[in-house]
Amino acid sequence: MPELAYLNGKIMPIEEARVPIEDRGYQFADAVYEYFASYKGKLFAVKEHLDRLEKSLRALEFPPISRELLRDAVLGTFQQAGIDRAGVYLQISRGVAPRNHAFPNGAKPQIVITVRQVPDTSREYLEKGIAAITVTDIRWGRCDIKTVQLLPNVLAKQQALSAGVQDAIFVSPEGIVREGTSSNLFIAIGGRLKTHPLTPHILPGITRAVLLDICRKINVHVEEVFFDNNTMLAAEEVFITGTVTEVLSVCRIDGRTIGAGKPGPMAARLRKELEACAGAHL
Ligand code: PDD
Repeated sequence: MPELAYLNGKIMPIEEARVPIEDRGYQFADAVYEYFASYKGKLFAVKEHLDRLEKSLRALEFPPISRELLRDAVLGTFQQAGIDRAGVYLQISRGVAPRNHAFPNGAKPQIVITVRQVPDTSREYLEKGIAAITVTDIRWGRCDIKTVQLLPNVLAKQQALSAGVQDAIFVSPEGIVREGTSSNLFIAIGGRLKTHPLTPHILPGITRAVLLDICRKINVHVEEVFFDNNTMLAAEEVFITGTVTEVLSVCRIDGRTIGAGKPGPMAARLRKELEACAGAHL
């Protein structure tokens, strides 16, 4: 099945899509995005992703863009690609205009979508968990807006790979554990969970929200509270959550073993519940 792009109303092979060099996303990271995933040919949590996108657009004072147009563009491109397990990337920039920091008058937001096959998380990582490093969170104060300004995330991920581990965990200069480079983070202690509360310092993950709902239903207690690095290192389980990542155990952090050093029962249970929930959306 073809991997496709959508560019301002037209669907085409990805290699053919071109954006002008004065696109403000390219010059200023003046753009927002969403990343959807599909399971067995159905996109998961489309409403929730569009809700968050609208919040991002409003936060950056973009002109209103029809929700129906965005929904049809996402679903239309996804359906045309016909990929069962797809990652659908949607990016909207403020538009194309001569480079000037101020918002341009009358620029038209540029809408870009790509639909690609996504690899499932490797069996090895599911069975053994991943290892991570912590890095100081040097991101701006509005991590709740899903903008394409991801350089700290890119550098942190690369730092992790260079250190021979799979991911990095952002920790504030005061020692508060925030989230992963493209995921939220939970810890389990005594059958209860903790995760960072929704503040401008983390992205309000859709997977995080779905898991909180699931936990309410299955009576797993979750506290949305701040916790520090030492609390994380002493937890029985640490896992990250996100679109495509789903629920993934982190079993070594900064060279220290977490809990039993292998994926624990809480992550396994929530991963299963999440998969059932994605199935229920089909
Ligand atoms: N990232 N935190 C950050 C910093 C993220 O970039 C993401 C997702 C999440 C999890 O959000 P969700 O559950 O809605 O996927 C948390 C996407 C997948 C990305 O950048 O590709």
